[in-house]
This record gives sequence, structure tokens and C-alpha cells, in this order.
Amino acid sequence: MKHLLDTQGLAYDDALAILDTADEMTAVSSREVKKLPTLRGRTVVNLFYEDSTRTRISFEAAAKRLSADVMNFSAKGSSVSKGESLKDTVQTLDAMGADAIVIRHSASGAAAQLAASDWSEAAVINAGDGTHEHPTQALLDALTLRRGWSAAHASSPRGSDLSGMRVLIVGDIVHSRVARSNVWLLRTLGADVHLAAPATLLPYGTDSWPVTIHYSLDDALSAAPDAVMMLRVQAERMGGTFFPTAAEYARRWGLTDERLAVVERLRQGTTDAAALILHPGPMNRGVEISSAAADSPQAKILDQVAHGVAVRMAVLHLLLSQRQPDGSHDE
Ligand code: CP
Repeated sequence: MKHLLDTQGLAYDDALAILDTADEMTAVSSREVKKLPTLRGRTVVNLFYEDSTRTRISFEAAAKRLSADVMNFSAKGSSVSKGESLKDTVQTLDAMGADAIVIRHSASGAAAQLAASDWSEAAVINAGDGTHEHPTQALLDALTLRRGWSAAHASSPRGSDLSGMRVLIVGDIVHSRVARSNVWLLRTLGADVHLAAPATLLPYGTDSWPVTIHYSLDDALSAAPDAVMMLRVQAERMGGTFFPTAAEYARRWGLTDERLAVVERLRQGTTDAAALILHPGPMNRGVEISSAAADSPQAKILDQVAHGVAVRMAVLHLLLSQRQPDGSHDE
């Protein structure tokens, strides 16, 4: 693996290697062990053209806990406002030394374009490109699901995939790079993937995806998912308005207090009858998820955040430990 651009092309063995390495990194990411020297002398550039809290800060934490140096670039406040192109920005940062570039960009395909270019020899990690993919989010979600699945079945997560797990993804699929990355990765790991969304928030072509589609959230919950992943309604990609309205959306598609009571009883017969609740954040409380659901014991939303550091440590470690400082790659 030279870059991490998507999960659609991520091999099963590479996905499991990332999850197993992330499990090993958990002690460092949770600061039981202060730091590993693995990436001493390497530089990670965070190149963010869109806003971020979790992804940018967890990549920074991950790099620092592996002893790498970090350069943070945010398009806001940079020379992008003077018209500087992506190519010139990358070449400028590369001239200061970059072993890995973590890029978030509003254009779908921006990370792939950078990886295919001769602008830099650095390993490229996609931190979210337009509505295309967000692979490290799907990997941290998979780590969270794997741990929850193993805990409910009293087995060890290491080396295991998600075969037999039923995962329901709900909401604004059309604008969601998180949903796309999750669909591909969950299928690679053997999960049974269900989507529930209004027809207007499903992308064209979803009928060819390897998923079961529901046009009613209550029907989808009656299919007894082991985990329910609520998606943020991306109002900023809808011209600033909710569709149809925030209240109507919450009533039909939100994980309300009433639906939380259903979710709490979904997995009768396991050690914990409640289905896991995930949300990639940031949340619109009261729209796609109620506060009671977000703060409930079965909500794994802060575990997802913590797992984000471990997964990003694993990705940086696996990409950079196979790479020479000149950019050449040990196969
Ligand atoms: N989940 C996610 O990508 O969050 P941020 O936008 O805060 O990075």
C-alpha cells in the first residue's frame, strides 16, 4: 500500500492489517504509553481545504504519538485566498519536506489527483474528498463495530472481520463520503449492509450497490440491525436548508427517543440486547439523532473519536514504515 485513497479499492488483508495494527496502537493512542519512536525524523503534512475537528486533530495526535513532525495547513488564512493552486500549494509544502500528505478537499478525486501527480513523492492519505470517500472514518467505524461485535459474542476482535453483522446506515447518503466508504469497507469485511433514506437523499445508481435499501426507517429497524449508523444532514451542501424541514426530517428519519426504545431491544439473545449507535460527527442533535440517543450507553460516538487516533496511527505507521525517505517503497 503506497497511499490510502479509498476503501473501494482497499484489499481485505490490508483492511484487517490496519484494524489489527490499530488495536495494538490503542495503548499509545489512549496515552497509557506516552509515545512510540516509529516515525522519528518523518514529517506529516495536514492539508485541509475544508473545516474539520476530529479528522485534522486526530491525524495530528496520531503523528505526534509516533514521534513524527507535523505541519498543519488550513486553506482559510492561507495564500489560497490569493489564488494559489493546489499544485503550487503542495509543491510549496513539499519543498519544506513531507513524507505523508493528509488531504481534505471539497473536490471529489482531489486525493487521487495528488497521488497520481509528480507534485510530491509523499504518501497521500484521503481525509475526505467531496462526496466521494473518507476511508479513515470507515476504518475507525469498523474498529468500533468490530469491538462491539466481539464484546457481544465474547470473542477476541484481533484478526476477525464483520461477517454476520448487520449494519444500518441512515440519512443523507447522497452527500456522504462517510456512507460510501462504509458501504465498500463493510462489504469487504463481510457485513450485511442496509441503507435507510428518503429517495431524495439517495444517490443515483444506489440500486447497483451491494446493499439493501429501505424507504422507511421503522421498516429498516424491524430488520433487526446489530448497529445503526446515523449520518449528519449536510445542510451546507443543500444551500443551507434542511430538506424537507428539520422537524419533519427528525420525525421520519431521526433516531428519536421513541426509536431509541426500539434500538435498545434489537439484539435479544446477545450479552447486550441494544444495537450499537454510531455517528461520525459533528451531530445535529434533535435532527438526525436525539440527545437521549447520542448520550445513551449504547452510543459509541466518543469511542469512534478515540479509535480515530489509533486507526490513523496505524495508517501512518503502515504507509511510512515501508517507505524510504526518497519516496521509494519496500514491496
Ligand atoms: N467525522 C469527521 O470527518 O469529522 P470532522 O469533519 O470534524 O473531521
